[in-house]
Amino acid sequence: MSTNHSNSNKLTTSWGAPVGDNQNSITAGHRGPTLIQDVHLLEKLAHFNRERVPERVVHAKGAGAHGYFEVTNDMSKYTKAKLFHDKGKRTDLFIRFSTVAGELGSADTVRDPRGFAVKFYTEEGNYDIVGNNTPIFFIRDAIKFPDFIHTQKRDPRTHLKNPNAVWDFWSLSPESLHQVTYLMGDRGIPATLRHMHGFGSHTFKWVNEQGEAVWIKYHFKTDQGVKNLDPDLAAKLAGENPDYHIQDLQQAIEAGDYPSWTLYVQIMPLEDANTYRFDPFDVTKTWSQKDYPLIEVGKMVLDRNPENYFAEVEQATFSPGNLVPGVEPSPDKMLQGRLFAYADAHRYRVGANHNQLPINRPKVPVNNYQRDGYMNSGTNGGGSVYYEPNSFNGPKEDPHARITPFEVEGYAGQTAYDHDDHYTQAGDLYRLMSEEEKARLIRTIVEAMKPVELEEIKLRQISHFYKADPDYGTRVAEGLGLTVQA
Ligand code: HEM
Repeated sequence: MSTNHSNSNKLTTSWGAPVGDNQNSITAGHRGPTLIQDVHLLEKLAHFNRERVPERVVHAKGAGAHGYFEVTNDMSKYTKAKLFHDKGKRTDLFIRFSTVAGELGSADTVRDPRGFAVKFYTEEGNYDIVGNNTPIFFIRDAIKFPDFIHTQKRDPRTHLKNPNAVWDFWSLSPESLHQVTYLMGDRGIPATLRHMHGFGSHTFKWVNEQGEAVWIKYHFKTDQGVKNLDPDLAAKLAGENPDYHIQDLQQAIEAGDYPSWTLYVQIMPLEDANTYRFDPFDVTKTWSQKDYPLIEVGKMVLDRNPENYFAEVEQATFSPGNLVPGVEPSPDKMLQGRLFAYADAHRYRVGANHNQLPINRPKVPVNNYQRDGYMNSGTNGGGSVYYEPNSFNGPKEDPHARITPFEVEGYAGQTAYDHDDHYTQAGDLYRLMSEEEKARLIRTIVEAMKPVELEEIKLRQISHFYKADPDYGTRVAEGLGLTVQA
């Protein structure tokens, strides 16, 4: 337990008055009943009733750490984002790792993607990269996200996880195949949070001072090396120590064994997006590193544990919409939906003034015309002008932060991505695996699909595996006791 940080060691009420007795409530006579005038007791019980905020609707279970990012390769040629300028420059950051589907108290060592959310406290405001430990995702249009997550969470009737729903949705959404192969493979259960890569996953736009733009993807490569957990050990740990990953991270940092990641970007010239062999904004695909090699940007080091879990980790609010000049969204249809979803979740989960909390507050002054709202803990603009435009020298726009104009074309409509090849990259991933990895992948998929009741779902999913690679489909089918005909 760390030391008390208040100036005095005197116990007070939340309004700062000293507490005379924190062991015995005020009663009428020796036996009671208890008197309503015991406002310390009333406040204590009432505040306790309100200790929980809603958990995150996804990524509820997580671990956080503070650290810094250091530039090793100046990127000013490509982006005006100052955190990527000047070799040797450091920017403070906070990271939160998470599992996706489980609740706040669920086990760490389950098969699930891991969230990898980084908040950089830059000199031009906060920049968040809210990614995962996988470079791809299950779906590629935000409109499918609530349905997808319903299948990952509990069945509303039984309150149990439902493999029928999981495989029904995946088999009817073949764009998920690449990520399903990734998740069911060895990397589906990382050994620790320190032994996995992180990815921005989406394509973003970088813009330099001259207004020239490129498309980029972020890769955080773990300097600890990738290590995964054997599924049987993972299951044992889930029972014995459900907080295994949180504990490992805390203990490593406490011992001064600071984990680090090297940040790379892939850079694609703007015009290549029109001719690349698939849609580079489709988040179910990776860009070939032969076409767009990794370019080093800097190093991320985690060197400080949170002092208080709720204040820092639970109340942290990350959003892909927290961008700084020099980084802009791409037209990725998942990313576009996320630009809305996160800040909306934060207003609901933490409150409209969530950005005033110390963990979320930028380390630069915030000057705007927003006022009031629940839990407004700043100066609320003091006596300054509260509308814009004004004649009173209030804060003004900065043309440097305007977005770069971009071309749009065609008709508005509800159109799918042009490229429908869900199989090549999933098959490539399968073919890249050693024979032992393939055998583990097949075993995991077969075990996961066994409880599916409808044969139609199994056959539909097997046909996707088969299209990715006949060997892949045939082996899953055999494992499930089914036969396939080419
Ligand atoms: C958390 C929505 C896709 C990574 C969340 C939260 C919401 C959400 C509402 C909870 C936020 C909070 O309460 O603070 C969505 C929607 C998506 C989507 C609507 C698709 C349209 C993705 C993708 C990734 C991702 C593709 C990774 C590439 C994360 C992470 C967190 C998170 C890391 C946890 C952030 C934290 O640690 O606080 N998402 N998500 N999400 N999401 Fe997504």
